[in-house]
Amino acid sequence: MTVLPNSPHARDVASVIHPYTNLKKHEETGPMIIDKGDGIYVEDTEGKRYIEGLAGLWCTSLGFNNERLVEAAANQMRKLPYYHSFFHRSSMPSIDLAERLIEMAPVPMSKVWFANSGSEANDHMMKFVWYYNNARGKPEKKKIIGRHKAYHGITLAAASLTGVEYAHKGFDVPLDRFLHVTAPHYWREGQEGESEEDFAGRMAQEIDDLIVSEGPDTVAAFIAEPVMGAGGLIPPPATYFEKVQAVLKKHDVLMIADEVITGFMRTGNMFACETYNIKPDLMSIAKALSSAYLPIGAVMMTDEVYQVLRDGSDKFGMWNTGYTYSGHPVAAAVALETLRIYEERDLLGHVRSVMGSFQEQMQQFADHPLVGEVRGIGLFAALELSPDPANKGMFDPAAKVAPGMMARTQAHGLISRALPGDGIALCPPLIITEEQIGVCMERFSTALDETWAHVQAEGLV
Ligand SMILES: Cc1ncc(COP(=O)(O)O)c(C=O)c1O
Repeated sequence: MTVLPNSPHARDVASVIHPYTNLKKHEETGPMIIDKGDGIYVEDTEGKRYIEGLAGLWCTSLGFNNERLVEAAANQMRKLPYYHSFFHRSSMPSIDLAERLIEMAPVPMSKVWFANSGSEANDHMMKFVWYYNNARGKPEKKKIIGRHKAYHGITLAAASLTGVEYAHKGFDVPLDRFLHVTAPHYWREGQEGESEEDFAGRMAQEIDDLIVSEGPDTVAAFIAEPVMGAGGLIPPPATYFEKVQAVLKKHDVLMIADEVITGFMRTGNMFACETYNIKPDLMSIAKALSSAYLPIGAVMMTDEVYQVLRDGSDKFGMWNTGYTYSGHPVAAAVALETLRIYEERDLLGHVRSVMGSFQEQMQQFADHPLVGEVRGIGLFAALELSPDPANKGMFDPAAKVAPGMMARTQAHGLISRALPGDGIALCPPLIITEEQIGVCMERFSTALDETWAHVQAEGLV
């Protein structure tokens, strides 16, 4: 698109730096400016309507015009627009929300720590883990194991946990202490003749070997998204978490679950820890916690972890960490209302009623000549595009095949997301109906066929 002088697009180019954007290319193309939204739809300033097939950034679970959330924010703003939670102070919405989250947690959790985003929640979990081991008198036990293809955010520690190269390049991360093991992607990483369970066993063994070679007294925690999201939308192979957790237990290494995308029904249970029988010591949540209407994230921890932190804070004098906006009353009020709406609408029941059809319709693309793998669970899924599916071939990333398909879905009024390795994902708002899923799939299918025609015309297959 041409950026016309004095247009909002030109003003954007002149004044805004965008996340995850090629800054130079942006000067030529300008932004797509989203102006309004309703239900699962958003509309840009040119009047074009799109199905938001990625729920923004995997987050607007209730769609784009929920009046109750607007009211909840306005009411709380009128009553108390801000207060902090430093120095023994509190506000009612943060207390109510913490209690509600503890009730809902997938395993018994004792305390909630509030942050403003998924990155901040993950970043703080690292501080918790280090503090925990300092308080336990194990100052050497500090290394964290993450996974290649993992996405945990972009603050310094969160970006260090993240295992996708694109988030590291040029930023001097990962920092020391952060290790990464193989992504448990059976289709791509499994060996000839290896069963899914054997593959899971090999992945767990890799973690075991790494802990032993680094020294168990130096390894503090392992972190995982139950379903890897931005790095490729990769559900775990059968028995993976069972096997990994046995290794962690053996070496006194904490299990941390990043439920920032998967939390709040995305996998067909309230939390993906239930789906995969994960028993985390700490877990992070954000995004659908407030349907993304206001920034809020949180960490939940078990009582065992909390008791060590508690005694540590006495030993070190104070628990000297926190954000100006931790437990912000307006964000907490909106999150509480979000959780009420989930319950009153039985959104979990709704997700379960449509997710089977969503996954089946995605599976219909499995035989398409451009599709290597279809993977997903609950209400999100991805295709992996391949020039030679039988041999799991990969396109040259410079050909930008999945980004091309993303542009085509957009041209057809569906926002999707290209992932590394030529994945292309859908993760619609949880309120999506069966009929709307059908429309989504038609647009996705058209864009896939057009992409197939393109790769043939370009001689990429
Ligand atoms: C699994 C996961 N964790 C953490 C984050 C970071 O969250 P935020 O962008 O709110 O900092 C993301 C963002 O997409 C994510 O997908």
